[in-house]
Amino acid sequence: MQHYFSKETNVEHNRREVVYKVLDKELKFMTDTAVFSKGKIDFASDLMVTAILKKEDPLHGDVLDVGCGYGTLGISLFNENMNLTMIDVNDRAMDLTRENLIANNVKAKVLESHAYEKVEGAFDYIITNPPIRAGKKVVHEILIGAKDYLKDNGILYFVMNKKHGYESAKKALDEFFEIEVVDKKDGFRVVRCVKK
Ligand SMILES: C[S@@+](CC[C@H](N)C(=O)[O-])C[C@H]1O[C@@H](n2cnc3c(N)ncnc32)[C@H](O)[C@@H]1O
Repeated sequence: MQHYFSKETNVEHNRREVVYKVLDKELKFMTDTAVFSKGKIDFASDLMVTAILKKEDPLHGDVLDVGCGYGTLGISLFNENMNLTMIDVNDRAMDLTRENLIANNVKAKVLESHAYEKVEGAFDYIITNPPIRAGKKVVHEILIGAKDYLKDNGILYFVMNKKHGYESAKKALDEFFEIEVVDKKDGFRVVRCVKK
């Protein structure tokens, strides 16, 4: 069975462009079958992008988008003071990200990597809407693993539904991060974790 987190996909294409308006930005995203949230921006990703853009301090420095899909988080949060890296395991999603970077005039390095396997260096921010369907092991690898790829006082932002293991993720993160819920809606929490 083909999942949105499969590496390769042979599912027939059905490309659809989405226009995403968020605060003063208008962005275009090409989407397709066999990638996460085809044909519309995911509710939780939108909640997180909006919450971060509303904060006074824009993301800056080295930023890593883990599980970038077709690029929603990194591209929407991009600004000129950011050095962006985007990773995923799904080839079709990464191709769409490359296309969407060009369409939105955003520069980033796109890398195939299972969690942090191929990631080098340390980041000021790690942003993720983690792949719940890939299972708790992968989700925790991404969330807790962030501590080893953040600079001192670096920040992990993630979004998760309370039904999708939020409490157990929070418990595991508590040891390494100062945790703050910056927005919540319909069971989803946008969480800001500062590395201790
Ligand atoms: C919930 S989707 C979020 C996609 C995108 N960030 C967004 O907001 O629309 C999670 C993404 O994680 C990717 N993914 C799944 N397993 C992964 C892994 N082990 N390492 C990195 N990315 C993974 C999936 O392919 C998918 O694109």
